[in-house]
Amino acid sequence: MTDRAYVIDTMISAKAIAARIEELCHEIKREFGDTDKLVVVGLLRGSFVFIADLVRELDLPIEVDFLEASSYGDAMESSREVRILKDLRGAIEGRDVLVVEDIVDTGHTLSHVVRLLLSRAPKRLKSIALLDKPSRREVDFAADWIGFAIPDEFVVGYGIDFAQRNRNLPYIGKVRFTD
Ligand code: IMP
Ligand code: MG
Repeated sequence: MTDRAYVIDTMISAKAIAARIEELCHEIKREFGDTDKLVVVGLLRGSFVFIADLVRELDLPIEVDFLEASSYGDAMESSREVRILKDLRGAIEGRDVLVVEDIVDTGHTLSHVVRLLLSRAPKRLKSIALLDKPSRREVDFAADWIGFAIPDEFVVGYGIDFAQRNRNLPYIGKVRFTD
């Protein structure tokens, strides 16, 4: 499948993403404005660009940590069974936590990670995803903040890959097969 020919059509421009991140950060600051330290947890690898832009727009005292959950591998379909491949370096008990994800698709990944982190008794825990595909949901889960709701298209760019490719596109594009 990954050797199929495809082109990428722009879906969300870099400018639109930047503007939306500014809005989201106002809302996050309204929620966490009184924090002594916010642990911003990025889900590897797809959130690495989003988290970089997000934290630079968040003038709060923060720490950054990362967690890796099993992903699609090279497939375009979710595996449904979520495993933790790399856990956080730091403890989050009694801390304010913001979990940052690239896309909520079936919902299995982020709902699993949120449940796991809640079991560690943080003070407050919220989640944010840049993209949401509500029509694909298989579990009852909603992130606290969403950048953009999108239709059921396979997207790449801004950190998000297709078989590890296209993460470095500065915008979100949709994959269109040409063969
Ligand atoms: P979920 O567990 O089905 O919600 O899957 C979430 C994960 O699947 C995200 O973290 C992405 O890594 C990946 N994913 C979902 N949709 C896409 C897509 O359109 N392009 C690339 N990766 C995706
Ligand atoms: Mg992912």
